[in-house]
Amino acid sequence: MLSRYILHLPRLQRGFATQVGPISTIPASIHLKTGQSFHGRSFGAPRSVFGETVFSTSITSYTESMTDPSYRGQILVFTTPLIGNYGVPANTAPSDSQDVGVVLESKGIQCSAIVVGDVAEQFSHHSAVESLASWCKRYNVPGITGVDTRAITRLLRDQGTTLGRLAIGPDVSLPPPTAEEYWDPTGENLVDQISTKTPYVLNPGGSIKIAVLDFGAKANILRSLVRRDAAVTVLPWNYDFNAVRDQYDGLFLTNGPGDPAHCMEAALKLRKTLQEWDRPVFGICMGHQVIGMAAGLDAYRMTFGNRGHNQPVLALASAGSIKAGRVYVTSQNHQYALKLQDPFPQGWEPFFINCNDSSVEGIKSTKESGKKVWGVQFHPESAGGPLDTIEMFSDFVAECRAHKIQFQETAFSHDIKPARLGTMVEPRRVAVAA
Ligand SMILES: *[C@@H]1O[C@H](CO)[C@@H](O)[C@H](O)[C@H]1NC(C)=O
Repeated sequence: MLSRYILHLPRLQRGFATQVGPISTIPASIHLKTGQSFHGRSFGAPRSVFGETVFSTSITSYTESMTDPSYRGQILVFTTPLIGNYGVPANTAPSDSQDVGVVLESKGIQCSAIVVGDVAEQFSHHSAVESLASWCKRYNVPGITGVDTRAITRLLRDQGTTLGRLAIGPDVSLPPPTAEEYWDPTGENLVDQISTKTPYVLNPGGSIKIAVLDFGAKANILRSLVRRDAAVTVLPWNYDFNAVRDQYDGLFLTNGPGDPAHCMEAALKLRKTLQEWDRPVFGICMGHQVIGMAAGLDAYRMTFGNRGHNQPVLALASAGSIKAGRVYVTSQNHQYALKLQDPFPQGWEPFFINCNDSSVEGIKSTKESGKKVWGVQFHPESAGGPLDTIEMFSDFVAECRAHKIQFQETAFSHDIKPARLGTMVEPRRVAVAA
């Protein structure tokens, strides 16, 4: 009786232990440029691809990682064996002051392919609408399962990040590519491919105006700003911000994929901004590297990138909610980093350092410089990952607001007072007349 009743509950149609059918028996192989090959089964799109092979140590949030534009061009190896068990949610949300149009980190899957030890053939989650395999198929992204991801990870950890090829179906019987045949995504300007082509505004009624240079923004960066009541104008990565900068209370530079050398144009424009403009500037990941290059630091390619949601960083300076001497656990996804140099360029200091590999995890303007500029290599917005540093968004928005108030008091005090009185008097007069 009871089971018959439960079977008729409509909500069970959605995301509950849904039968998705067995993963295909189509063979698949992953070849690494360093010479090794691993063989398993295909799922998702039956299509062979090249990419940069990287691993992530995150246990959950495969949906957020796969839609993170910073993974563009990459074959993503999950070190966690079981992936797909909670399926994939519908990816639409309202574009209002609470959200930015998507539930995940962008509209579609950004990585080139995924490598999974044991892909879940069934999924169960209240918000799931499809399986990982069917989502991959819809976005034409191939996957391989049934391979020893621990062995692959150990190779990538010993040899460093390398190029790869996912061969599916008939391509499995072809010989592995020669070294010259591997496609290297970092040779391309991936930022230019992913960045918005035209400016757009989110939450136009927000109480402060923040301009965002889009190098491949994760949606949660934009969400973290609009939820703090900022009106956010998203601009192409190489937009001439200096021509419009006085309309904004702050500037934000997002994360993005690939080699920061492709973004030198943005760094040179930002150098002028930093010299001539004194409002708050905050950058994350690629945005942090662009700030560093504008400050005169060099960026380099790391042998082992940092990817995962458990990267410990030590704060070397205090600012806002961040206290010097504390360790924060952070979400990260990067292959490039700023070079630590001694002395640091004048007016700048290191902000965070990675506790494990000592790479630069953040820089900031010094107190003496009189500027409010910060860059962090990690992702304070999380999605996925810990929220240890989420308050950095509140710090940034508070600085923008403080600057705006100070600016109004000094420059426009005579204009603003009558205007405010006017709007307060108007409704009262109407009320009396009625
Ligand atoms: C950082 O180092 C610690 C200590 O060796 C280790 O337990 C931890 O797994 C490392 N974290 C990452 C993300 O590699």
